[in-house]
Amino acid sequence: MEFRMRINHFPTTVAAAHAVADRIAERLKAKPNIVLGLATGATMEPVYERLVALHRAGDISFSGVTSFNLDEYVGLPPADPRSYRSTMDSQLFDLVDIDKARTFVPDGLAADAAAFASRYEAMIREAGGIDLQLLGIGRNGHIGFNEPGADFAARTRVVDLEASTLAANSAFFGGAQPPTQAMTMGIGTILASREIVVLATGAAKRDAVRAALLGAVTADCPATALRRHGNVSWWLDAESGAGVPGENLAAE
Ligand code: GLP
Repeated sequence: MEFRMRINHFPTTVAAAHAVADRIAERLKAKPNIVLGLATGATMEPVYERLVALHRAGDISFSGVTSFNLDEYVGLPPADPRSYRSTMDSQLFDLVDIDKARTFVPDGLAADAAAFASRYEAMIREAGGIDLQLLGIGRNGHIGFNEPGADFAARTRVVDLEASTLAANSAFFGGAQPPTQAMTMGIGTILASREIVVLATGAAKRDAVRAALLGAVTADCPATALRRHGNVSWWLDAESGAGVPGENLAAE
């Protein structure tokens, strides 16, 4: 079967991020009890800023939303400002009318990580599955924290992070090394979402974007797994999208 991915080009980073926020807002208005899959990282900051602004303008309400975040560092308590739970609270959850009890982030402190991971998968299923998964991409093509080599069928689990990922994310740790493991939704979890919105901005993502869209489908570039999904859109700025055709691209 041939699927197609939609490629949306924007002149600036902010324009791409705001367009993604507007897409999320549109889906939220159409389904107030939407189940969102959420991502962290510098790329997402302007997306959340825009969603908060839309909420403050009275345009959108998160009161019916349930959310599941992609990943969390192992060993960081939720209250640690560098944890993804804390990041989500400060960038979005504490600034809108979402019910915090329905915001879920993997537990980086779970004593039995495997048991927590299977509960996380069950919670996603019980919520009806993820309607819209927001995704970034790592410089090495990772999605969530599924590093090169990850099985496309994998579900939520604890993974080791690559040295390049630790280096990229050390910026969030004042230059120090981040935790070397994370709990992440698997590629199989991500592919089970009904719609996937990928935002990639900046020159540092150009090679990963090109590999994801134009290279062979391979575990060496986890984002190529998205070509096995029927409803993926990519949102690129001038730097990340250079050389990528603007029309719909044929998948496998
Ligand atoms: C991080 C996260 C991913 C994120 C990606 C890009 O390590 N685990 O979910 O999409 O890498 O991050 P950034 O937006 O900071 O470049």
